[in-house]
Amino acid sequence: MIAAIPFIDLQAQRRRLGEPLNQAILAAVASGQWVMGPQVRELEEKLAAFAGVKHCIACANGTDALMIVLRAWDIGPGDAVFVPTFTFAASAEVVALVGATPVFVDVLEDTFNMDPQSLEAAILMTKRAGRLRPRVVMPVDLFGQPADYRAIEPIAAREGLRLLCDTAQAFGGTHEGRRTGGIGDAAATSFFPAKPLGCYGDGGATLTNDDTLAELLRSIQVHGQGSDKYENVRIGVNSRLDTIQAAILLEKLKIFPDEIEKRDAVAQRYSQKLGQSNKVRVPRVVAGARSTWAQYTIQVPDRSKVQAALKAQGIPTAIYYPIPLSQQKGYREYPAAPTHTSEKLCASVISLPMHPYLDDALIDRIAAGVLAAV
Ligand SMILES: Cc1ncc(COP(=O)(O)O)c(C=O)c1O
Repeated sequence: MIAAIPFIDLQAQRRRLGEPLNQAILAAVASGQWVMGPQVRELEEKLAAFAGVKHCIACANGTDALMIVLRAWDIGPGDAVFVPTFTFAASAEVVALVGATPVFVDVLEDTFNMDPQSLEAAILMTKRAGRLRPRVVMPVDLFGQPADYRAIEPIAAREGLRLLCDTAQAFGGTHEGRRTGGIGDAAATSFFPAKPLGCYGDGGATLTNDDTLAELLRSIQVHGQGSDKYENVRIGVNSRLDTIQAAILLEKLKIFPDEIEKRDAVAQRYSQKLGQSNKVRVPRVVAGARSTWAQYTIQVPDRSKVQAALKAQGIPTAIYYPIPLSQQKGYREYPAAPTHTSEKLCASVISLPMHPYLDDALIDRIAAGVLAAV
């Protein structure tokens, strides 16, 4: 029997982090400051410095992070937020949750990220229909790679739209010298365990250079508090990062730059092996960008055959995403630009095991399995 290999090997990372991680967790527990302990502020400062941004505000998860920014900008009924249709549900969910309308945009076939031309079409369609006010563009840095900000930023600026970057999958990636988190009017990220920088539960953060927005974000996430805990100046939510998770993230942040390098090396090796076949389309990283490789996703003609063949060899795979969000039952009523590329991707993408501790022999075995199956 062939031993199953993990899709993401978080235990290998845990072994590397070793005793200092255990001590950090124990110290967070022993301190008794389980909520808003000093590790939370320390983490916020370190993440802000890492991303090259003025403010980082930790919160309970990436979904809340997105939603809190939308609330801070007073996005609500009658407002349009442009979101890719090829993404995780949370990107559009938060728009609907604040009462606004997600307007779905197609993605590019080679990078999986928001297609600037489709964004233009969606904005035009919304303006012509005249029912909604275009307010926000929310590019998603899918699978670890920053979206095409060189093209998207000027569109947002020209149209007077705010840019909220959903970098839940790509914190730490770079685009023309800027790190994700520091791009856009605001960014939101997730520390869900499977993310490139993940904790041991749920966690997230908002990031911005805007002082006024930062103050609002801090207020909204703690029940709309004013200068005092029991002064409530607006309607907020309860969304805090636990001290214990901040302590874990502080340890993980120390090895994060090295892990990004290692992920990149894994991706390069996959692409080198798989790129030899004209039946496999490997992911493209645009010039000037660096991916954190949350996923390594290829496109193949007969996906179910490839998936079954790999499974028989103990190699797990995943389909991100099987249905464009605009075609999911919960989202069908919302407007969408034509989504042909996303539909095509949903039928052909397959993600292979990806983490910093995949060794060359294993990468070669997985690649050989894919090549044999296609
Ligand atoms: C693109 C994207 N946006 C938002 C989220 C939401 O993050 P969380 O699971 O921390 O709420 C996720 C992750 O799950 C994601 O992949």
